[in-house]
Amino acid sequence: MTNRVRKAIFPVGGMGTRFLPATKAMPKEMLPVVDRPLIQYAVDEARAAGIEQFIFVTGRGKSAIEDHFDRSIELEALLAAKGKSAELDDIHESLLQPGNIAYVRQQEPLGLGHAVWCARHLVGDEPFAVLLADDLIQAETPCLRQMVDVFDAAGGNVIAAMEVPDEHTSRYGIIDSGGADGRVRPVTGLVEKPAQGSAPSNLAVIGRYILTPEVFTELERRETGAGGEIQLTDAMAKLIGRQPFHGLAFEGRRFDCGDKLGFLEANVAFALERDDLGPGTREMLARIGDLSE
Ligand code: G1P
Repeated sequence: MTNRVRKAIFPVGGMGTRFLPATKAMPKEMLPVVDRPLIQYAVDEARAAGIEQFIFVTGRGKSAIEDHFDRSIELEALLAAKGKSAELDDIHESLLQPGNIAYVRQQEPLGLGHAVWCARHLVGDEPFAVLLADDLIQAETPCLRQMVDVFDAAGGNVIAAMEVPDEHTSRYGIIDSGGADGRVRPVTGLVEKPAQGSAPSNLAVIGRYILTPEVFTELERRETGAGGEIQLTDAMAKLIGRQPFHGLAFEGRRFDCGDKLGFLEANVAFALERDDLGPGTREMLARIGDLSE
């Protein structure tokens, strides 16, 4: 068994009901932050962490994602004919090596754990990453790279963690780290979407995971949890004590792009970081500020 993280799963089967009507005929993962679809950020982050094989767990109505990572011969010819080399380079850079991208369908929306389980044969018996494209992370060192570094040093399972306010703990998987703090914390318990007031801490799981293949054995049981869904958090919780489990309080800013305000904020934050758009965005924000006074 290899001990390198070479494969990543991208669960992209979700319906995106929170962004209707925009997501009626378009996958939510194709919503652009500035000029790149959300899924492109997740794939680029995985590439920067050394991932070589990209496994998408899709569903009906998601074919735009497949097209996005495919060649577009007509478009490329058009850009070349018009001398638009910057755009052409950008499109070429977003392509993955032939054969390094695979799609498997989750036939029914039975939960995140079930989506991950659908990729079990493509992952096989080796550690793997899971990235949720809704969680967009702006960081100097990409979040998954930070996690792979922890994995290479410590092994086991690594999940991304972030402190959230009391009133938000019921939206997340919550980590019990036995009160430890610091960048890398031991995970001694995990609970998916605890009822208000019952969370073991304020440390939330963010959508980046490095997991050992044993989690598939737990997912195989198809036990349901919060919301009647097969939860990845519950399957991970079963591995605690049997394998090393680390929560990484990663460096960077996370935007919840499954939420309208989080998505808007991400657009502004990523535009501000860009040389071509930063100054214009700053002026625009000042103008809007004037209007709202
Ligand atoms: C999923 C996970 C949850 C995690 C969250 C991070 O929940 O089940 O444990 O905290 O992603 O974004 P979802 O947002 O799909 O409800």
